[in-house]
Amino acid sequence: MNTANLGFIGGGQLARMSIQAAQRMGLNCVSLDPAADSPASQIADSLTARFDNVNALANLLAKCDVVTFENEFAPVAPLRAAAAQAEFDLDNFVPSLEVLERVQDKLTQRRIYLNNGLRSPLAVPLSEVDQIGLPLVAKSRFGGYDGKGVRMIDTPAQLAKLRDEVDEANWLAETKVNFVRELACMVAIHEAGVTVFPVMEVQNTDAVCDITFPNEDEETASAATRLAVDAALAIADGSEGLFGVEMFQTEDGDVWINEIAPRPHNTGHYSLDWGEQSQFDIHVRVALGFPVPERLSGLRVTMANLRAPEGAQDDLVHYATAHTLAENADVRVHWYGKTQAKPGRKMGHLNLPIWSEDTAEAIAEVRQAQATFYAAYTGELETDE
Ligand SMILES: Nc1ncnc2c1ncn2[C@@H]1O[C@H](COP(=O)(O)OP(=O)(O)OP(=O)(O)O)[C@@H](O)[C@H]1O
Ligand SMILES: [Mg+2]
Repeated sequence: MNTANLGFIGGGQLARMSIQAAQRMGLNCVSLDPAADSPASQIADSLTARFDNVNALANLLAKCDVVTFENEFAPVAPLRAAAAQAEFDLDNFVPSLEVLERVQDKLTQRRIYLNNGLRSPLAVPLSEVDQIGLPLVAKSRFGGYDGKGVRMIDTPAQLAKLRDEVDEANWLAETKVNFVRELACMVAIHEAGVTVFPVMEVQNTDAVCDITFPNEDEETASAATRLAVDAALAIADGSEGLFGVEMFQTEDGDVWINEIAPRPHNTGHYSLDWGEQSQFDIHVRVALGFPVPERLSGLRVTMANLRAPEGAQDDLVHYATAHTLAENADVRVHWYGKTQAKPGRKMGHLNLPIWSEDTAEAIAEVRQAQATFYAAYTGELETDE
């Protein structure tokens, strides 16, 4: 039988980049994803099945020493059934299935933060929305990502419309945080303790991560680091794992917890080019119980996502990369190998080390590289030649 050291539930770009890290260490990996042409399937063994297909999951588990996750959407009941069927030890899921269950429900997450005394928006089931004043934020409790399932509610009419449209049992309402910036930080919880990556600032476009860059303010970084570790420990509750922690900062400097993803995270992609171990290296180490360094520190790096713009042409990727690099040789292009450029889809990202002291200049530089890539990718540049 084909054995694998590490299995992945989900075969998107996060699995692909973790597998690339594992392969450098000489490890064998396998992923399971509903899509036959997933990014991970192009570089390692894969199974094509829905996340609730118990037989397929059991098949995956039977091949693997340890199984980890690249997204938090797999329902837990079929995973438990598959583990029983394949005689797979539940301790070999990293993070644990309990962690997965806790983060799958955004209301459960909020209650954990609030019960642990962490600064978090107050959240209630949508049916109890009267406890939360306007403006508020309504969220689907399950399955949301990239801002899908998040609604900003400013008026009673908007609230009434939402309550008409959705199943209230599956939605929550929470206080709106009037933040001045969004922050994020990767936290690894492992056998020997906790290892924290630097705090990043995140700029979203259309509620999706667009650009990240290192936070420069020491007080902010230390408050955000402390909160990120406390929140990750509360969610982990004894499990090991790599956690992407999303936070808000308000004008008075306070840092609030937004949410946690129990896996590598878009805001950790800079670490592929910071000269230290990346979030994907650390993901593999944590999953397999390999030692993780106490501290990590590397180059300051800006990151820009490459989300397929309207009119993106799959056959112009090489041209877009060549054009972007010709303009700025410091840029690193990371491409996920997705077979189709649907508008808004995360197709890759750019990393750019910051050589100057001036972060604003570095952000402008990575935005320029992103704009050049998009222009070439949509064929806009072709007419100039
Ligand atoms: N309580 C809140 N107050 C103010 N803004 C909020 C609040 N909750 C969420 N937002 C805004 O909406 C964005 C998306 O929310 P959230 O992170 O909960 O959803 P998501 O769809 O799981 O996100 P993603 O997958 O992009 O991380 C946040 O990054 C933030 O900009
Ligand atoms: Mg989020």
